Amino acid sequence: MSDEHELRTPVSLSGLAANDPHLQPSARNPQLVERVISVCFVLGALCFAGFGACYWINAQAWKLGATMGGGFFFVGVGLVAWGKYLMPRGPFVEDRHTLANSDADREAFAAVIVERGGGVVQRRKMLGGLLGGGLGIFGVVALLPLLRSLGPLPKTTLDTTDWKKGSYVVDQSGRRVMEGDLAVGSISTVFPEGTQNTDRGQAVDQTVLIRVSNEGFTTMKGRESWAPKGYVAYSKVCTHLGCPVGLYEQQLQLLVCPCHQSMFNVTNGAVPQFGPAPRPLPQLPLYIDSSGYLRSQSGYHEPVGPGFWERS
Ligand code: FES
Repeated sequence: MSDEHELRTPVSLSGLAANDPHLQPSARNPQLVERVISVCFVLGALCFAGFGACYWINAQAWKLGATMGGGFFFVGVGLVAWGKYLMPRGPFVEDRHTLANSDADREAFAAVIVERGGGVVQRRKMLGGLLGGGLGIFGVVALLPLLRSLGPLPKTTLDTTDWKKGSYVVDQSGRRVMEGDLAVGSISTVFPEGTQNTDRGQAVDQTVLIRVSNEGFTTMKGRESWAPKGYVAYSKVCTHLGCPVGLYEQQLQLLVCPCHQSMFNVTNGAVPQFGPAPRPLPQLPLYIDSSGYLRSQSGYHEPVGPGFWERS
């Protein structure tokens, strides 16, 4: 048996000399460590029992958590200390007979391979290349459904909406909204004329129109003319994750997103008052033309929708 073929593998402790220094615990005072571990296990057991009692009497959640956490903590400390200080240090090795074949055996095996298989597969490089090519093409083809399912590129549609200067405000049936259509405290979902029945119109263009008073209304400094006759319009696309903000709490003048309960102050530029929405709903500037129709002074002054814009 040559030294280089000799294998050294872990073995159990049985059969090894008890006075081997590698088999001694690493702690200087094993008795003390044993006592500490015992205390930990007892405390852990008490905590688990406490957890059972708390669960039985339906105690508060923090008590359940504290007792169970304490139980795992103490048992864990005990186990770690046991493994670290009381277990033999090792390393443990045992000589074993060689598992390697002799040189003669190897040569005989190689001769058999050459004799039986060498003539069958002679163009391995070519086969390997063909296999790699086939798998490569399969990989590319497998990507196609994935790429196609992403749909068309959004291009500039994420930056703009179809609202522009002079757009007529229409309801979901396409009817133009007039000055007297909404009573104070009412809300309606509106679109720029001509888009209300398109996918795009359903998405980025959707706008909530609220009549908060009979008088011109100012939601923020610089927006004095944006809400004629008390008509205020905000994007309906939540700035958190894009849900439609369709709930209106008239008493509190709040728009509420049903997904995660973000609340936007209608009278104050739709600034979020509660919930995860990071920024106000964009406001659409309105005017009433000489025929009494509500129209937009311009498009939105900022992108509508969720946090994508925070990163752009
Ligand atoms: S999507 Fe509106 S609060 Fe989350």
